[in-house]
Amino acid sequence: MNQEIHITFPNEISLTIKREDLIHPFVSGNKFRKLKYNLLQAKAENHTTVVTFGGAFSNHIAAVAFAGKEQGFKTIGIIRGDELFDKIEENPTLKFAQQNGMEFEFVTREEYRLKNEISFLEKLKNKFGYFYLVPEGGTNELAVKGCEEILTTEDAIFNYVCCAVGTGGTISGLINSALPNQKILGFPALKGDFLKDEIRIFAKQDNWDLISDYHFGGYGKISLELIEFINAFFEENKVPLDPIYTGKMVFGVIDLIYKNYFPEHSKILLIHTGGLQGIEGMNLKLKQKKLPILKRNV
Ligand SMILES: Cc1ncc(COP(=O)(O)O)c(C=O)c1O
Repeated sequence: MNQEIHITFPNEISLTIKREDLIHPFVSGNKFRKLKYNLLQAKAENHTTVVTFGGAFSNHIAAVAFAGKEQGFKTIGIIRGDELFDKIEENPTLKFAQQNGMEFEFVTREEYRLKNEISFLEKLKNKFGYFYLVPEGGTNELAVKGCEEILTTEDAIFNYVCCAVGTGGTISGLINSALPNQKILGFPALKGDFLKDEIRIFAKQDNWDLISDYHFGGYGKISLELIEFINAFFEENKVPLDPIYTGKMVFGVIDLIYKNYFPEHSKILLIHTGGLQGIEGMNLKLKQKKLPILKRNV
């Protein structure tokens, strides 16, 4: 569903948001798109167990747990941070995943970095047997295929399409399905120059760019300005944004509109990739830091 944002911008620019967050209450946004063909493939290969990776507040971990349960898979989450093993109860994401049947293997940050090494995968095979592996963030070729279905014919009127970037799978799907008149702009939620190379693995067109000025200090980092922006955006437009990905992207796009980055009459489509489950965990951190919380609690 596309929702128009009723803000009067300079240069007759219009902003619309694609509410992919409303696709499913727990497997929302890009998670639904990324898992669709992966779980079909897992079924086709007669797998009964799905293994994946993620951090303490990972949207992907929550989504795999729920989608796995719905589709009859046993799910195992390899979680970054061995200190978390006795903190499940106080972590809304892990608690949700566990309630939906996910088993965890907590590993140190050093071990986690080895997650793509053959020796690490061999260890997992010895422990868990035959399984279907979904990579961190869910990004692989089948995930990109799913994300190619985000844009539809009704979106042909937009000349800019903007999304948040983590591992690069979502933007790759958008790039591949974009029309010649459309430019795809990605807003990385983390620091680092490696993302362009990751995207080039899957992207089949060069109609895109990354805007790296809106990560707010890095992955999971947020500021008072960002919290106030997300809360005001929700109050004015009734669209909840998450603090890790979509909040930063929408902040960036609106900032760029006022900095005259976009030509006159641009029609901009924002992709709401979900991630709202992360608000609860972020609010716990904000309370500890005595910062205001994000108002939309889901
Ligand atoms: C809510 C949300 N938006 C955007 C992204 C970024 O997607 P990708 O990892 O495909 O770049 C993620 C991470 O997967 C996410 O959880």
